[in-house]
Amino acid sequence: MSDGLLAAAGRVVMISGGGRGIGAAIARRLHADGYSVSLGVRDVKRVRSTFGPCDDGRVLIAHFDATLATTAQGWVAETVGRFGRIDGLINNAGILRQVGFQDEDETALDEMWRINVIAPFRLIRLALPHLRKVGHGRIVNIASTDGKRYRDASSSVGYAMTKHAVIALSHAAKFAGWEHGVRVTALCPGAVDTELLAGVPGVTPAAGRMKPEVVAAAVSFLLSLPDNASVAEMPINTRLESTL
Ligand SMILES: NC(=O)c1ccc[n+]([C@@H]2O[C@H](COP(=O)([O-])OP(=O)(O)OC[C@H]3O[C@@H](n4cnc5c(N)ncnc54)[C@H](OP(=O)(O)O)[C@@H]3O)[C@@H](O)[C@H]2O)c1
Repeated sequence: MSDGLLAAAGRVVMISGGGRGIGAAIARRLHADGYSVSLGVRDVKRVRSTFGPCDDGRVLIAHFDATLATTAQGWVAETVGRFGRIDGLINNAGILRQVGFQDEDETALDEMWRINVIAPFRLIRLALPHLRKVGHGRIVNIASTDGKRYRDASSSVGYAMTKHAVIALSHAAKFAGWEHGVRVTALCPGAVDTELLAGVPGVTPAAGRMKPEVVAAAVSFLLSLPDNASVAEMPINTRLESTL
């Protein structure tokens, strides 16, 4: 008897930044679940040598640089060319730079905006026709608890701005795909134990951070939910905060 959950077999999921940190944990988990995974990464050669199970026909490692629009087009085309469909898109690639009101130079702010917001927007635009076509497409955008609130004066204003924008993008994508069965989640983890947090002030100390595998398990759960179980936002916190 069916438990009402969606099965992994036969479904194809794209993961940006799937070669390292949270993205690599998501890619490994989804592959172990039985999905076909398409990893969009900057250094294809490096990730081919580190990812592991690449020879079972369920793994594509393709070039994707969030700052280059042509690579987004190329990655989507390569995924469809290889697997013939796209069932899920995980917008994971992202960067954190300290940006505050004291900074006159806006280079880091521009860079974060392009990688954290414009690139996911672009990938959604390119993947949506394919996600609509399968009838149960899923998008998970890795936002952050910094997209849900501004923590304190030690936080990066710029990072919080981009992650708030990712949540707006997620809600907009949900409207764009809803009638065709596309469901979208802004997944908002607190501190996760990856290189992203190296030297960042004010965050949860290393011993208290989540493992990337915990975020990967949440993504796996979200992808298994049927159309009538839409989760628009999913905060996962390491610390006690009101409403988060
Ligand atoms: N760690 C946390 O505490 C935490 C908490 C909440 C949300 N997040 C979010 O989770 C996501 C993953 O972060 P992480 O913790 O796994 O960070 P990470 O370990 O620093 O990894 C960042 C990932 O993004 C990729 N990336 C960076 N710039 C890119 C570009 N221009 N084009 C393509 N890929 C690029 C990296 O690829 P390369 O290997 O090529 O550099 C890498 O795969 C980010 O969106 C981050 O904001 C993290």
